[in-house]
Amino acid sequence: MLGVRALFGIGLLVTSRGGSVLTHTGACAHIASNIYSKDLTHRQACTMANTIKYLGQEEAQHIDEELFDEYSFSVDQLMELAGLSCATAVSKGYPLQSLLKSPPRVLVICGPGNNGGDGLVCARHLKLFGYEPSVLYPKRPKKQLFQNLTTQCEKMDISFLTEMLEADVIDEVYNLVVDAIFGFSFKGAVREPFGDILSQLKKITVPIASVDIPSGWDVENGCPDGIQPDMLISLTAPKKAASHFKGRYHFLGGRFVPPALEQKYQLNLPQYPGTDCVHQLN
Ligand SMILES: *[C@@H]1O[C@H](CO)[C@@H](O)[C@H](O)[C@H]1NC(C)=O
Repeated sequence: MLGVRALFGIGLLVTSRGGSVLTHTGACAHIASNIYSKDLTHRQACTMANTIKYLGQEEAQHIDEELFDEYSFSVDQLMELAGLSCATAVSKGYPLQSLLKSPPRVLVICGPGNNGGDGLVCARHLKLFGYEPSVLYPKRPKKQLFQNLTTQCEKMDISFLTEMLEADVIDEVYNLVVDAIFGFSFKGAVREPFGDILSQLKKITVPIASVDIPSGWDVENGCPDGIQPDMLISLTAPKKAASHFKGRYHFLGGRFVPPALEQKYQLNLPQYPGTDCVHQLN
């Protein structure tokens, strides 16, 4: 489907400019400026002009390792940018003024790994953006990094729930749920208490925004009877599971990929608009 969209993009560019255009990342802004006259937004132009790569699980793991081992990033650095991207995507998809319930409460559910860390950072930025996040963090790792992220949230008066709520209570109290339970390294079976949590999330009617991967989904093949988020925030690059995403908003975040790494893995990332930390894919 992406291939078809890319071809359509090329065809349109050829007719509108009368010449051939290379559809690579660097050309995106240039292409977009030529397309404005055709009533296309910058976002649509960029989406069409690039065949962004959807990563397999192993490839995603290699890129992650390389960011740390070769490019010398630290986990908390990238987690901060990832979490900020998630909060920014949420604020774009669900602006404060659009939320039906006041205060604008968001339930952020954090898993035991780095995806949960992204969730904690996201909660902290949501608070700074004017939302009222609460965090459910049932399996907390011992690592100092996660303890520090938890302290940072507590010091910002973000409340932590002691247990998962029933679906109807979530619908009543919250505007939105951020799913930061499992990320791109998820494999195998879901352990409790996350099995219960996911079965409640399947019943709620308020939208779910999933961080990187909808939790419980196979990272490549998705999960037809799993949770169905309204928003997906792919981090670094989308994973194959994103091609099974049926929700309204697909954002790309984690604007920290060095160009050499992007080229090595041929990610074909779209150009982020201006100084934004997220790019809306659809
Ligand atoms: C955690 O916070 C303490 C200060 O409270 C700091 O000394 C330490 O470096 C931090 N550790 C990590 C991994 O962020």
